[in-house]
Amino acid sequence: MIRSLSLILGFITMSVHGYQCQTQKNTINPPDDLSQSTYYPAGWTENQPIPTVENGQNCVITVKIPRGYYANVTFYRDFPYSTGSYALIVNNDTQPFFFMFPKFVVNLQTVNSTEYTTRFAFKIQWKIIPDIGRDTIIIEKKNPPVASFPGANFITFSGNQGSQLALMAFSLTDPANNYLLRQTAIFDGDSSDSNFIGTLDQVLTSKTPLIASRNKISVYTFDLGNYFYCPLFMAQDKDDIKGYQVYLGRNCEDNGECTVTLDGSLGNSLTVTESDGPEIIKRFNFFPPTATINVYENTVSSVTKVAEFNSTNFYEQLPFQVNGNMKFYELVGTGMYDMVVTREVSRAARLQL
Ligand SMILES: *[C@@H]1O[C@H](CO)[C@@H](O)[C@H](O)[C@H]1NC(C)=O
Ligand SMILES: *[C@@H]1O[C@H](CO)[C@@H](O)[C@H](O)[C@H]1NC(C)=O
Ligand SMILES: *[C@@H]1O[C@H](CO)[C@@H](O)[C@H](O)[C@H]1NC(C)=O
Ligand SMILES: *[C@@H]1O[C@H](CO)[C@@H](O)[C@H](O)[C@H]1NC(C)=O
Repeated sequence: MIRSLSLILGFITMSVHGYQCQTQKNTINPPDDLSQSTYYPAGWTENQPIPTVENGQNCVITVKIPRGYYANVTFYRDFPYSTGSYALIVNNDTQPFFFMFPKFVVNLQTVNSTEYTTRFAFKIQWKIIPDIGRDTIIIEKKNPPVASFPGANFITFSGNQGSQLALMAFSLTDPANNYLLRQTAIFDGDSSDSNFIGTLDQVLTSKTPLIASRNKISVYTFDLGNYFYCPLFMAQDKDDIKGYQVYLGRNCEDNGECTVTLDGSLGNSLTVTESDGPEIIKRFNFFPPTATINVYENTVSSVTKVAEFNSTNFYEQLPFQVNGNMKFYELVGTGMYDMVVTREVSRAARLQL
């Protein structure tokens, strides 16, 4: 009787204890045969349940990527809580992440408590960066940003000698598709041999510009051109983005209302929309007295400023039509402002009758 009970206890203990990442090989080199996938932890494959990680683990897993290849990585994560920083891996999100030469790093931590069961694993597919065409976009100092749609080509922004370029991301009309922005690679230079410095997903999450070390920055968007017909990123000279803590593009649907958040949580910010026709500011859901909102058409300058809203004078100025291809909404001060715009000009005008 007692013997069989202890056997059962032993079995339960073993199944609750998972793998220790400390005992795994935590520097993963690419295999000789790159057509084979690589798995972590070793021995696991996606046909098996996600393995349990023992509690109290803290490991840095470094995966080396060969030059000319990218790693298409699927994470299998099921934690009873969420944490993370640089690029957050969330539970049950098996949409792939993309990483470039020379490596990517995973910091795996589990709480030191037997109250939780944490499961984690990942699969790497090694893929050749295809030999593709190239587009070069010239960025001049003292000019507005130049925005780009995703395309089949490798896109290089090229700035003035001696300058540094900044790259900003556009949010998507449907944030549920944000994971697709991981499928992008940003390089600190003019080729995929330059340093890989991030993805559009990271730039969008950070809300701040990504600064290149020199006057060239390149973006590769894999096959995102098949999914999005809208600008996803823009570049500008670093000297021309001074003074903005948050700088973002925002995509809106052509129909209906679009809520554009002007984010002054960190101080002054700039929010850009791009469309062929005009855009109408219909209302603000909140207008705290802590900032002024300046509106510019095509570029930020004293002559292209078309409106200045503050908490006492904004209401009487609405609705307000903004023309130009690029519309710039500059927040000077602090606070969060939800601005509702529409591109359906005739309907917005009719509503005012
Ligand atoms: C990445 O891997 C996923 C899952 O296998 C696959 O569906 C997707 O097509 C791959 N994408 C690229 C660009 O390699
Ligand atoms: C993740 O998916 C598994 C299996 O479908 C499910 O049991 C688990 O509750 C999910 N976890 C979360 C946090 O949604
Ligand atoms: C985990 O918790 C146990 C028991 O509370 C403790 O003895 C051990 O030192 C802890 N380990 C770490 C890594 O904090
Ligand atoms: C708002 O701007 C108007 C000028 O258009 C100015 O008279 C007023 O004092 C400003 N209000 C605040 C709260 O800054």
